[in-house]
Amino acid sequence: MTWVLWNDRLVKDADIQLSKEDRGYQFGDGIYEVIRVYNGSMFTATEHIDRFYESADKIKIVIPYTKDVFHKMIYDLIEANEVTSGQVYIQITRGATPRQHQFPTNTVEAVLTAYTKELQRPVSEMTNGVSVKTVEDIRWLRCDIKSLNLLGSVLAKQEAYEDGCFEALLHRGDSITEGSSTNMYGIKDGVLYTHPATNLILNGITRRVILACCEEIGLPVVEEPMSLASVFLNEEFFMSSTTSEIIPVIMINGRKLGKGLPGDWTQKLQIAFEAKINQAVYA
Ligand code: PDD
Repeated sequence: MTWVLWNDRLVKDADIQLSKEDRGYQFGDGIYEVIRVYNGSMFTATEHIDRFYESADKIKIVIPYTKDVFHKMIYDLIEANEVTSGQVYIQITRGATPRQHQFPTNTVEAVLTAYTKELQRPVSEMTNGVSVKTVEDIRWLRCDIKSLNLLGSVLAKQEAYEDGCFEALLHRGDSITEGSSTNMYGIKDGVLYTHPATNLILNGITRRVILACCEEIGLPVVEEPMSLASVFLNEEFFMSSTTSEIIPVIMINGRKLGKGLPGDWTQKLQIAFEAKINQAVYA
């Protein structure tokens, strides 16, 4: 049987009851997280939970549990579903109330839901690399919040998929920001470039682990926006996320980047990243 977390209770999937006037459903008024599970253990759970609380705080949703209690609730969900290699999706909305744009004035309880699924690592993409399509970044100006409002990302990803690409490479004018659901990195002359963690990107948890790996393997990092016009000057390019880990980008808009193969630094980072997973979940 599959269990779902509904507020503070584990219930059967069929028993969950959500209102048509839930503000998440009507306004995208909520936030979410995705945490990877390897070998039955959450990877970087504390960082994801911290970001969940930060995102909630930024849109003034109060999560009615301490972080420790919340961590335990997610842990219990994973245990109940006996997840081995998979992910947990968690979201909280401002709650259900008669439709009005402004926050409800009465005490409306936030609605928490979380569920798990089995998921294998994207080994083929990580090994062989993927293509991306450049798409103008039309999202809002608070991309640092992991908001349920994902229409800008959905449209970008769809445009990339329709062109046979794995991901959209988003840019605001000439400035590359990130992917529709990933962070983006270029490597040029032995230096890694990635957009700084401002309001224009989500500061990925995977990104943070990667920046620590860069230090370990002696790859200098410059956090500044990359220019779209000179994107082909990069010798290597890759993307990252909780579910993608580190995936080399070998083609942009149908044109090969460098030799059209995963780069050496990217592969070194993949090894360093995998070591971090192993340390955390198999130690
Ligand atoms: N996406 N940028 C955006 C816009 C994202 O949506 C994500 C994550 C990332 C990478 O963040 P992290 O390394 O913490 O996963 C960057 C998740 C996985 C999703 O929407 O499914």
